[in-house]
Amino acid sequence: MMKRTKVKSLLSSPALGTEVLVKGWVRTKRGNKNILFIALNDGSTINNIQVVAEAASFDENILKDITTGACIAVKGKLIESQGQGQNIEISAAEIELYGKSDAETYPLQKKGHSMEFLREIAYFRPRTNTFSAVLRIRHAMAFAIHKYFNDKGFFYLHTPIITGSDAEGAGEMFHVTTMDLTKVPRNADNSVDYSGDFFGKPTNLTVSGQLEGELGALALGDIYTFGPTFRAENSNTPRHLAEFWMIEPEMAFYDLNDNMDLAEEFVKYLIRYALDNCSDDLDFLNNMIDKTLLDRLKFVLENQFVRITYTEAVTILTASEKKWEYKVGWGTDLQAEHERYLVEEHFKRPVILTDYPKSIKAFYMKQNDDGKTVRAMDVLFPGIGEIIGGSQREENYEKLLKRIQELKIPEKDLWWYLETRKFGTAPHSGFGLGFERLILFVTGMLNIRDVIPFPRTPKNAEF
Ligand code: 4AD
Ligand code: MG
Repeated sequence: MMKRTKVKSLLSSPALGTEVLVKGWVRTKRGNKNILFIALNDGSTINNIQVVAEAASFDENILKDITTGACIAVKGKLIESQGQGQNIEISAAEIELYGKSDAETYPLQKKGHSMEFLREIAYFRPRTNTFSAVLRIRHAMAFAIHKYFNDKGFFYLHTPIITGSDAEGAGEMFHVTTMDLTKVPRNADNSVDYSGDFFGKPTNLTVSGQLEGELGALALGDIYTFGPTFRAENSNTPRHLAEFWMIEPEMAFYDLNDNMDLAEEFVKYLIRYALDNCSDDLDFLNNMIDKTLLDRLKFVLENQFVRITYTEAVTILTASEKKWEYKVGWGTDLQAEHERYLVEEHFKRPVILTDYPKSIKAFYMKQNDDGKTVRAMDVLFPGIGEIIGGSQREENYEKLLKRIQELKIPEKDLWWYLETRKFGTAPHSGFGLGFERLILFVTGMLNIRDVIPFPRTPKNAEF
C-alpha cells in the first residue's frame, strides 16, 4: 500500500520522477476529449496540484464524474510541468473516485461568492481558498500563542466553562440549567428556586476565565488561559460574537507598565509569526481581500504603540473637529468611532489607553489614588478598535470589598476570590486578547463571523 503525500510537502520538496499518491477535492477541471487538467486541493496549502490525465487511459464514467467538489485519489508520476502556472504536476496512472459532487446542485460553484452567502453554507466554507487560508492562519496563531507562553515559562491553566459568578459584572450571561422551563420552581418570594437544579444554584457560561486565572497566578506565578467565552450581549456588529475565544495571561508581581510591555511584545510576536510562517496564505489574502494587509502588519511590527491616559484621549477627541455620532466627555465610554480616530487618524499607529474612569470598568481593577480612575488598559488597533482589555488588579482586601459592595455584586458569589486578598495577596496584572479580533487583524477580513468556523451571533446558532 502506497502512502498518501500531502500537497504541501509535494510542492515544497518535489521528488521529480517518483510515484506519488494524493487525495483531495477537485477545484477545477478543464481540457478536451484527449486530455484533462485537474486542479486538486487537499487543504494542506492554498496551492493546488495539477493532475494531468490522458482520456484514453481511463474509464469514461470516472472522468465524467470528476467535477468541481468531487473527492478523488490519484496515483501517478510527479513530473516537471509543461504548462504555465505551475512547476510540477502529476501524470495520472490511476484515479479512484471517492465522492461525486453533482455539478448542478453543489452549492460551491466555481464563481466568486459573497461572504454573506458563504455564511449560509458555512459547512462548505472551509473548501474555499479564502476560508481555508483563514483557518490555517487561525491554527498557526493558536499554536504560536502556546509557543510564546511556553517559551516564557507561563503555565496553561484550564479555567471552568460553567461558573457561578459574573467575572465582568456586566450581566451578559447565558444561564446553564437542567430545569424544565415549563415548570420552574419558585421560592415563597417568587424568585426562582435553584435548589433542585443540577448545581443547586444559578450557573452560567463563563464570560472570562480571569478570576480563576488570578487564583492560578497567585500560586504558579505566570499563567494563561485560552478557551471559549460567552457573552449574551445583543450586539450585532462586525466585531462581536456570542461565543468567542479569549487568551488571558495573568502575572504575579506585574504592574500596569509590565502588563503593557507584555501585551505589546505578545501581539508583535504573533504578527511576526504569521509573516514568517503563513506567507502563502497571507499573500493570497493580500491579493484577494485587502491589498494593504501585508503593509499594515509590517507597520504594526515596526512601530512602538502609543501609551496615553483616557483623560488625555478625551482631551484630544474633544479638541478634534470631527462630527461624532456619540458625544465624548470625561466619564463616558469611548465608542468604536473614537477609538478608531485615535488610532487611524490622530496617532496613525496602535494606541494603549490607560487609567479609565472606575465607573465604566470592572470591579476588580486597581484603584488609583485620585479616587476616580483605575489601572486599566485597552489596546486599540487600526481597523479593529479594542483588541485587548486588561488591568492591574486590586490586591487590597478592604478596597476590593468596598468596591464590590458599592457595585452591589453578591459577595457570596466571590468569597473565594476575596480569600486570595486575605492570605498572601500580591500585586498582579493581566489582560484578555480576543482571539477572533486578532485573526481579523492578521487576515484583513472585515467581519468577525468570517474568522471563526461556525459563528454564534444573535438569532444564529446553525451548524
Ligand atoms: O475587555 P474584555 O471584556 O476583558 C475581559 O474579559 C477581562 N477579563 C480580560 C482580562 O483582563 N483578563 O474582553 C477582552 C477582549 C476584548 O478586548 C476583545 O478583544 C474581546 O475580548 N471581546 C470580544 N470578542 C468578540 N466578541 C465579543 N463579544 C467580545 N467581547 C470581548
Ligand atoms: Mg474591554
